[in-house]
Amino acid sequence: MTSQLLRLGLLLGLVGCAAPDEPVVVPEPDGPVVAPSAYNLAVPSNFPAPLAQPTDNPLTVEGVALGRQLFYETALSVTSNVACASCHRQQLAFTDGLAKSIGVNGARSTRSAMSLANLLWEPRLTWDGAASTLETQARIPIEKDVEMHQSLAVGVARLQQDARYPPLFRRAFGSSTITEANTLKALAQFERTLISGNSRYDRFRRGNRTALSPFEQQGLVLFTTHPNGTLRGATAATATAATCKPTTPSATTASTPLPPTWAWALSPASPPTAASSGCLRSATLP
Ligand code: HEC
Repeated sequence: MTSQLLRLGLLLGLVGCAAPDEPVVVPEPDGPVVAPSAYNLAVPSNFPAPLAQPTDNPLTVEGVALGRQLFYETALSVTSNVACASCHRQQLAFTDGLAKSIGVNGARSTRSAMSLANLLWEPRLTWDGAASTLETQARIPIEKDVEMHQSLAVGVARLQQDARYPPLFRRAFGSSTITEANTLKALAQFERTLISGNSRYDRFRRGNRTALSPFEQQGLVLFTTHPNGTLRGATAATATAATCKPTTPSATTASTPLPPTWAWALSPASPPTAASSGCLRSATLP
């Protein structure tokens, strides 16, 4: 308290001494802006290269940490009791374990919360592919009536008033003035670090033949193949972004059957083509 009074006195003294036409230089509270540190993302060795990400939002240690805090921040919801983490819970693989999500004031979504694992490989986000970048997507749940139901502008104003946030934004993006764009960028940075790549199945795919029991390996074959021996979801495996039509039932019809083999399932090599092309997240949508 004494030191606070002392500092206030000093500041008033400084202001008092300045000539009327001289600008008063108030030192930045946290000293000079320091560039954030690059975040080292560890991609599992058996994963393909991640899809290209927006170049104006590189991962930084400070940006990811801020995004993580925002992900658990309830002030972004109108009732101050719903955060991204309410529906994307880490202990449930970043889902909510419900058939249909519940947002502010008990509002019931028509859709199920999706896992947020491995979004670096997902070209289209949400069940209908409504967004293609995490930055664009993050605004949707904040503003949607059945999710957090608060305009991002209001959310940003609330963060600005919270003494914890201006310094964190300054460290991550070089300015204590919080913007909508930087809020979305931080959330997106955190989400890009949510990589799941060390399950027993992953270890099996990387060549560890004992990671799955023989019985589980039979289950893997059953799970990934049609009774006729072709891969399940053949369209997903062969479709390209150009041919992908996730909302039309015809997209579920296999046009080019893959070779009648399931050998890939038990080999350490990757499936013939990407198993997830962003298509077929859902055949029918509410
Ligand atoms: C009320 C529950 C709820 C809240 C809160 C919520 N989400 Fe979601 N999330 C969902 C639902 C439901 C979907 C599927 C939406 C759809 O298909 O339209 C989804 C989908 C997503 C996806 C797409 C994942 C994929 O694989 O395509 C991302 C990314 C995401 N949410 C991020 C967020 C972020 C970031 C926040 C906070 C700003 C947030 N969510 C808050 C319920 C929620």
